[in-house]
Amino acid sequence: MTLKPKITIEDVYGSTFQTRVIVPTDNGQAALTHYLHNSKNGVSHFYKKAATLQIKKSLQQKYPSQIINTEIAAKALQYMLSNFNTNIPFPAPKNPNFTFIDLFAGIGGFRMAMQNLGGKCVFTSEWDKYSKKTYGVNYGEIPFGDITKEEIKNFIPDNFDLLCAGFPCQAFSIAGRRGGFEDTRGTLFFDVADIIKRKKPKAIFLENVKGLKNHNRGQTINTILNVLRNDLDYFIPEPEIVNAKDFGVPQNRERVFIVGFRKDLGVKKFKYPEGVNERIVFKNVKEKEEVSVKYYLSTQYLETLRKHRARHESKGNGFGYSIIADDEIANAIVVGGMGKERNLVYDDRLSNFNPVTNIKGEVNREGIRKMTPREWARLQGYPDTFKIVVSDAQAYKQFGNSVAVPAIQATGKKILQNLNL
Ligand SMILES: C[S@@+](CC[C@H](N)C(=O)[O-])C[C@H]1O[C@@H](n2cnc3c(N)ncnc32)[C@H](O)[C@@H]1O
Repeated sequence: MTLKPKITIEDVYGSTFQTRVIVPTDNGQAALTHYLHNSKNGVSHFYKKAATLQIKKSLQQKYPSQIINTEIAAKALQYMLSNFNTNIPFPAPKNPNFTFIDLFAGIGGFRMAMQNLGGKCVFTSEWDKYSKKTYGVNYGEIPFGDITKEEIKNFIPDNFDLLCAGFPCQAFSIAGRRGGFEDTRGTLFFDVADIIKRKKPKAIFLENVKGLKNHNRGQTINTILNVLRNDLDYFIPEPEIVNAKDFGVPQNRERVFIVGFRKDLGVKKFKYPEGVNERIVFKNVKEKEEVSVKYYLSTQYLETLRKHRARHESKGNGFGYSIIADDEIANAIVVGGMGKERNLVYDDRLSNFNPVTNIKGEVNREGIRKMTPREWARLQGYPDTFKIVVSDAQAYKQFGNSVAVPAIQATGKKILQNLNL
């Protein structure tokens, strides 16, 4: 065999990081990127076998007439590792002071916050292909897929410090009993609990919609707390409703935060962070330049919104659109339904404003437009160096589903103080 086992990361997933969405459905590329990013912290053996297999497959594609065995693939992997440079906007800190895993990772709001605090992510999972793309481009690592699958849980390394998860909220079917670990089976919380049970991280940080507190008449949160406190043996202070607007972003977004510490660590008190005393308003995140005409509402659509609102208001119902003035705070950004209309803004900087049309018809003369994906990114505290590489529709979904990074970061800081990290 004379083949020089040279392969570059572009050979394996070059197109993933370009504008075309080619994101793998198997876990080979996730394993490979996790292997490359964890070569110096003692956990890369969790990823090595699958990474080698991925290289083997790619070499077979690159050199179809050659026989590629595992030894050659292993050498190619080492070659790739020695030439690996992390040219990405948000690399891990150079000398991390703790490790964490990022579950239901979305576009990595937890990761951004924890990296800012000096953390190294050692495992991430997210199954949506567009979120994987955004995640890969910004942090260099492609998340693993469906976290409910045993083969994926098996990749999770041991001995990480913190588990982060903003898991979707689902009801448990518990008839009249105080729900325990087994009663949560079949839900995504079960998988979070299962990973905590197996790996016993020092601390956990869960995030959810505010409605979790009353969901199923309180049974859902009670079950979660019971499992964490009594079945898994964690100290869990009373969950806190945290509002993004108190942490320096102009968005009224309330979320439930649940933090916890392994009981043997002796943490007995926890104080959630106080907000910062800064009045940040929409103007602070507004686009500095004129935005594309595509974000402006058509006259007709604006009229429809107004008619609907008038009709609903006469019945005493609110109707979901509002126009945020420059000195106000935005509503929570959410996806679906009237999500984008809850945060319209005035912006009269449209040149040729007399009248202009976009694909939806003539643009309204009042200068009312939707917020842009970048404005949504800023409302969640993402820096402008965060790359947006998906369609607007996907970008709104991703930022709407994400977390307010500064609120997560402030809480993360408190967790680390309690762990002396
Ligand atoms: C509320 S979002 C979390 C967003 C994230 N905290 C962020 O900062 O962007 C929940 C995420 O879980 C993902 N998800 C749902 N079920 C999953 C599963 N079984 N395996 C992996 N990811 C899953 C969804 O695609 C979604 O992106």
